[in-house]
Parts: sequence; structure tokens; C-alpha cells
Amino acid sequence: MRVVNGLIDWVDARLPVVNTYKKHMSEYYAPKNFNFWYYFGVLSMVVLVNQLLTGIWLTMFFSPSQGFESVEYIMRDVQWGWLIRYMHAVGASAFFAVVYIHMFRGLLYGSYKPPRELVWIFGMLIYVALMAEGFLGYVLPWGNMSYWGAQVIISLAGAIPFDVIPFIDANDAKEIGEALTTWVRGDYLLSTATVNKFFALHVVAIPLVLVALVFLHILALHEVGSNNPDGVEIKKHKDENGIPKDGIPFHPYYTVKDLPGVIIFMMVFAVVIFYFPTGGGYLIEKPNFAPADPLKTPDHIAPVWYYGPYYAMLRATTIDWFISSKAWGLIAMGGAIAILFLLPWLDRHPVKSIRYKGLVSKITLALFVVDFLILGYLGTQPATGLAKTVAQIGTVYYFLFFIVILPFGHRFEKSKPVPERVTGGH
Ligand code: HEM
Repeated sequence: MRVVNGLIDWVDARLPVVNTYKKHMSEYYAPKNFNFWYYFGVLSMVVLVNQLLTGIWLTMFFSPSQGFESVEYIMRDVQWGWLIRYMHAVGASAFFAVVYIHMFRGLLYGSYKPPRELVWIFGMLIYVALMAEGFLGYVLPWGNMSYWGAQVIISLAGAIPFDVIPFIDANDAKEIGEALTTWVRGDYLLSTATVNKFFALHVVAIPLVLVALVFLHILALHEVGSNNPDGVEIKKHKDENGIPKDGIPFHPYYTVKDLPGVIIFMMVFAVVIFYFPTGGGYLIEKPNFAPADPLKTPDHIAPVWYYGPYYAMLRATTIDWFISSKAWGLIAMGGAIAILFLLPWLDRHPVKSIRYKGLVSKITLALFVVDFLILGYLGTQPATGLAKTVAQIGTVYYFLFFIVILPFGHRFEKSKPVPERVTGGH
């Protein structure tokens, strides 16, 4: 034991191991009233590790110049390859599922409000990086939906309305758009060059960014401390040793509490992997079991469920004024994501947690969730007739929620008194 302690002292004199452990684990005081919704941060980490590990293993057998064939090889010939591949493909959906719930918790309890704006901003950067990572990964197996999905998304670069810039006419704008799409593809058509490039970005560039952002996310959170379901600041009431009265050490209390959550999540994840790996076409789409074929367009090109809401907004936009409707669609889609970055400043409610907000906040938030789910579903379906109208209404409500309801909604309701100290969690 003396040898071990000596070694720890030796390292600690050169690297702040003990201090870091204390600051982020045994002496990080988290509010004692965390509930169900607080499992999803740690679950996001679990899925991130799953993606990194299974991704490294897949890379050992995958070859971007033979995307489709090498995935078939992994599925059929590589020992346990099918398991690693399904863990990774289903893991992508699991990642978005837990991250969406994690973000929703932020909305429930106002976790993005001061002093946690940067925690939210880093979270949003993670979310954008995750969307890029998901898209790039989806293209790699070079199935028919990989091909056509990439075709649709890359062609969006050509819809950027460069002609709104002074001195750029419609012809120049078209040329710039074409040059941009060629640059993204790395070729005049979608080809192996595109897959090679996407592979490099998917396995090296974006994961590095993601890991760095998660690190900053946690660092920023631990600087200001966690919020909680009551939305009250535990740092306002400290004992004589400067420890928040409503705080408990993260380790061992929350490490132990998180463990059953992680185990239950892994059980659900395993059931999906072993029994429903394709999720009826929602997790891995049916056309992706056939190789990329430029001559065979799938019946309808749809993104995976987690991009659904934004894709629905892109297609619902039919305004054709000043710039093309596709460009407006692009603005709606980009705006829907960009507006989330501004959440800490758009939400002007004096109360943080939904527990103490009034009826207007509760109903509008519930409607927002329903709206997002409906848009998500519509994004995976053909945009015809009624579906398109519903998507248009959904898009309008999405923006109304952020631009009108969050800044002004509190004026039309009466909030309950917010307690001084946290409730529950004894
Ligand atoms: C790889 C993805 C992510 C990981 C690993 C991650 C991890 C975590 C962890 C471990 C916590 C502390 C535990 C908890 O409060 O649940 C946390 C808190 C938080 N995260 Fe994330 N997160 C991720 C993505 C996001 C995203 C996309 C957002 C929002 C855009 C976000 C916003 C927040 C906020 C606001 C908090 C503070 C919550 C509070 O104190 O009430 N995170 N995150």
C-alpha cells in the first residue's frame, strides 16, 4: 500500500490527478434531487463510448473504396462482425434518442439559463457535429439510400442563393453552387472519391471534434454546477465549510445511482440489436440493403428518423419570393437549428423549472414536443397533400414557440412561488 501511495504522490506532484478527481468526482457537489431526466447525460456518454469502440473495430475491416461489399463482408464473414456493425448502426439512433431526451430535459428545467449558457452552447455544437457525423456515416455503406440521400443533401449546396450578394448574377450564382457541390463530392458525380473523403471525416475529423466538445461541455458544467428539477441554485445555501447544503458528492452517490440506469439502457439497447436491428426500416432503411445504383431512385428518398423534423421543414417551405423555394427551405432548416443556439436568450421566463411555471408554459411545451414528433414522422414520409399542409403548420408553430412564446408567454400566466431550497431527494 505504501508503494501505491508513494506512486500516487509522485505522479500527483507532477500531474494534478488527485485534485482533478476531487474536483470532478468526490467533491463535485450535485443537487440531491436529480430525477429520471438526469440519466441521459451519462447515457449520452455511454453511447459515445460505444460508437467510438465499435467504430474503431469496424474500421479494421471496412474499406471505403468498396463500401457496400466490405459491409457485407463484415456482416457475413468477419467473426461477430454483424454484432459490431449493428451495435454501431443502432448506436447512431440510440445516440440521437438519448441526446434528444437530454435536450428536452434542458427545456423542462431551464438548464440553459444563466449561468449555464455555455453548457448549452457546447451542447448545441455537439448536436450539430453529431448530425454531420450521422450523415457522413450513413453514406459509407454505399447502399442505395446512402447514394440518394447524399445526392439530395449535397445538392442543397447548389441551392444557396449566392445571387442575393451584390454583383453576383444568376449565372455566376449557379456556377458557384456547382463548384461548391463538386468540391463537397470531390468529383463530378458521387463516387468512391466522395466515400473516401467522408470516411476520413467520419472516423477522424468529427470524432476528434466531438470528444473535445464533450470535454468542454462537462468542464463548463462543473464550473457553474448542475441545475436540478426545481431550477433553484444550490450554491446560494452553503454550510460553514462552503459546501452546498442541498448538494451530495457525485461519487459515490450519483455513480451508484447512474449504474442501474446504464444497465437498463444497455438491456433495451441489446433487445433492439438482437431482435429489431433494422427497426422496421426506421433504424436501417430497406433500400440500404441494396448497393448504390445511380439508375434506380428509391420510391421515396427519406432521411433517417432523427433528421426528420428538419427535412420536413425543408420540404414544407413553398415560399417563392425573391429567392427560390429550395433556398427558403434551406433557410427554414438552418434557421430551425440555429435558433436553438439562442435559447438562453430567447427564454425570458423569470422561472426556470416547468414545475413552477404556469399553464401557458406547460401547454405550449407539450405542444412543442408533439409538433417536433409529428414533423419527425412527416420527414420520413412522402410530402404530399395533407402531409405537406400539416408540416407547414408544424413549421410555423416551431418558430412561433421560439420567437413569440418563449420570450413573451410568461406575461399571460401566473407562476407558482419558487422554493428557496430544493424539494425532495432526501
Ligand atoms: C455527446 C453528447 C452529450 C454528452 C455526452 C453530454 C453529457 C452531459 C452530462 C454527463 C451532463 C451532466 C449530467 C446531466 O445533467 O444529465 C450534461 C449536462 C447538460 N447537457 Fe449535455 N451532453 C451531450 C449533449 C448535449 C446537448 C446536445 C445539449 C443541448 C443542446 C446538452 C445540454 C446540456 C445541459 C443544458 C446540461 C446541464 C443540465 C442541468 O444541469 O440541468 N448536452 N451533459
